[in-house]
Amino acid sequence: DVVGHPMMHISALKHATGEAIYCDDIPCYENELHLALVTSTKAHALIKSIDTSDAMTVPGVVAFISAKDIPGSNLTGPVIYDETVFADDKVTCVGHIVGAIVADTQGHAQRAAKAVKISYEELQPVIVTIQDAIANKSFYQPVRSIERGDVAQGFKDSDHILHGEMHIGGQEHFYLETNCTLAVPRGEDGEMELFVSTQAASKTQALVAKALGVPANRVVCRVKRMGGGFGGKESRSTILSTVVAVAAHTIKRPVRCMLDRDEDMLVTGGRHPFFGHYKVGYMNNGRVVALDVTLYSNAGNSLDLSLSILERALFHMDNCYNIPNIHGTGYMCKTNLPSNSAFRGFGGPQGMMIAESWMSDVALSCGRPAEEVRRINLYKEGDFTPFSQRLDQFTIDRCWEECMQLSDFNKRKEAVEQYNRQHRWTKRGLSIIPTKFGISFTAVFLNQAGALVLVYSDGSVLLTHGGTEMGQGLHTKMVQVASKTLGIPCSKIHITETSTNTVPNTSPTAASASSDLNGMAIYNACQTLLQRLQPYKDKNPKGCWEDWVKAAYFDRVNLSANGFYKTPDLGYDFDTNSGRPFNYFSYGVAISEVEIDCLTGSHKNIHTSIVMDVGKSLNPALDIGQVEGGFMQGLGLFTLEELRYSPDGYLYTRGPGMYKIPSFGDIPIELKVSLLRDAPNEKAIFSSKAVGEPPLFLAASVFYAIKDAITAARAESGLTGPFRLDSPATPERIRNACEDKFTKL
Ligand code: MTE
Ligand code: MOS
Repeated sequence: DVVGHPMMHISALKHATGEAIYCDDIPCYENELHLALVTSTKAHALIKSIDTSDAMTVPGVVAFISAKDIPGSNLTGPVIYDETVFADDKVTCVGHIVGAIVADTQGHAQRAAKAVKISYEELQPVIVTIQDAIANKSFYQPVRSIERGDVAQGFKDSDHILHGEMHIGGQEHFYLETNCTLAVPRGEDGEMELFVSTQAASKTQALVAKALGVPANRVVCRVKRMGGGFGGKESRSTILSTVVAVAAHTIKRPVRCMLDRDEDMLVTGGRHPFFGHYKVGYMNNGRVVALDVTLYSNAGNSLDLSLSILERALFHMDNCYNIPNIHGTGYMCKTNLPSNSAFRGFGGPQGMMIAESWMSDVALSCGRPAEEVRRINLYKEGDFTPFSQRLDQFTIDRCWEECMQLSDFNKRKEAVEQYNRQHRWTKRGLSIIPTKFGISFTAVFLNQAGALVLVYSDGSVLLTHGGTEMGQGLHTKMVQVASKTLGIPCSKIHITETSTNTVPNTSPTAASASSDLNGMAIYNACQTLLQRLQPYKDKNPKGCWEDWVKAAYFDRVNLSANGFYKTPDLGYDFDTNSGRPFNYFSYGVAISEVEIDCLTGSHKNIHTSIVMDVGKSLNPALDIGQVEGGFMQGLGLFTLEELRYSPDGYLYTRGPGMYKIPSFGDIPIELKVSLLRDAPNEKAIFSSKAVGEPPLFLAASVFYAIKDAITAARAESGLTGPFRLDSPATPERIRNACEDKFTKL
């Protein structure tokens, strides 16, 4: 059976040899020009003047493009149009795009872009942090909240109440391929062809058409593959694409731009930093009965996808714990940073991280083992989430037990305790963390997908669907689905690219739902084709696929079919706290062991075991890769990666020299990943489950193992009880937390 087989990623060998074609590998067009961005150096200012006289003397410069060159609308944005393609008269972040230089080479364009002189009149306030935004009451609307039970009564009934807070830093996407667009005007009828590294082909098409003032049917967006997207190319890629398209339209020549790493880090935003404060009511045994949590996200200078991200954070404020009385509120902070955006997990990890913070506080204040306190608070089959969704086929219990065995938890715990008795200046820590991740776009209309399947008279099949390939292996899985459905080998099926002229109105490839959605659309199209071929199979049962296709062709049968799918029964209403936001949940549990150096604050990742429920895996090789990759990206988020800004909103960390992403040495010395067996999921294609984002949060097990090790270090100086540890757990935070100077709650 081809589905369920650990088939290699169809581009794996090309990735490894360098033969895979990424956007900027497309050969140059004759006449092609290069574009470089001119961006703001001020976080909040009026533009007084732009002087391009020096820039225009750089050899090879063709034009300076800005707001006045836009034939259609300068307003843009993925959900509401609260942004501009080019800043008009005001900039609201460092890195805000003001204009662009077009020249014969990238070098000339960049040199000239640096020579553009902008004079500003600086404005106050400059809001950089969540704390600044709270002080200035600078929020986007609406404020969201979810409530169930009677929170006031819950606190009255509690044996104890505690308060705490946590800050979680942002994260740079650091896809290996930075943002890239090649725009080719076709010279007729306002047609424009775009080659883009984007997760959102249709959004790119729509926003480019809007800026050019042409209907969408004149713009084609084509995506072969991305060298990583991670949510960073779900919406933020469209501004660069629009800038490049406007330039190509104005100059009537092909224009290309691939951002340098420092520009990409500066301009395109990242994961939302979050701050949470909470009040928890709990019983002597650690059972949590009441929770009031407030979340703040740093949304940056435009709304972008921040509302959906905040909503997902609130939908995950419980992580896997059944809190009978719970109230969560979320605010989006409007700040003078480049707009923050989707990033693997989409607010979920931040919401769950704060849940694990209060869970850790409760365990520490009860003086009970954290794994025991977590365990007694877990949901059970048939329980309801705070947003009234029933948990069916709830597999956390099984993942938990299997993970305990996989990591040999009890023995490991004894060994850790023994180690800590024998060592004063290094300490080991251990933690188990569960996760549940809701699958579906919370914006209901996005839960749709299309496919177009073409059968040629030689029997070969060209498959297209609405999803894009960013390394996650979606195209490989989709070939497997078509192969199984049509009953032909994968070798007869080819996917060449994603394009807006084969499947219209596609949702961004996001929310981990792309195999669910596109897989079903492909299944649907293949069923149509099978029905049309059936008479020729019946006539020639001993024949093969090629015989039936040929017979159908000569009999004048339509061998092209489209397919469509929409996820049923979705739609949540915040006002009434009713309706289902998610089709189902993906689950997992991780156990990690670490060792910290109490004097330097450095740490080593010794062991991680993960058991992940991804249903009946479509492709275990790809799914295990997603679990490992997601986990390591989360490990970067929670322990390594730290964005640094100056007080006036200037990003210092603009490359790998300043910003530490995970590398080989950060992979746990022992890393075991296991997919839960016998857990078919009736809600998705061939009983599978989404896998892309859910494992990322499991890296919190490393963070809380570090916190456990710090707890052991603190015990040496007689310190017990809860203490604050913000994310990422950098050496300085670990070092400081080993004493009590900076961590009093
Ligand atoms: N894996 C790789 N290799 N590269 C990526 O960019 N993006 C992640 C995840 N896994 C990503 C990845 C994100 S943010 C999402 S939402 C899903 O893949 C999207 O793809 P899927 O819906 O096919 O899982
Ligand atoms: Mo993923 S953050 O939904 O692109």
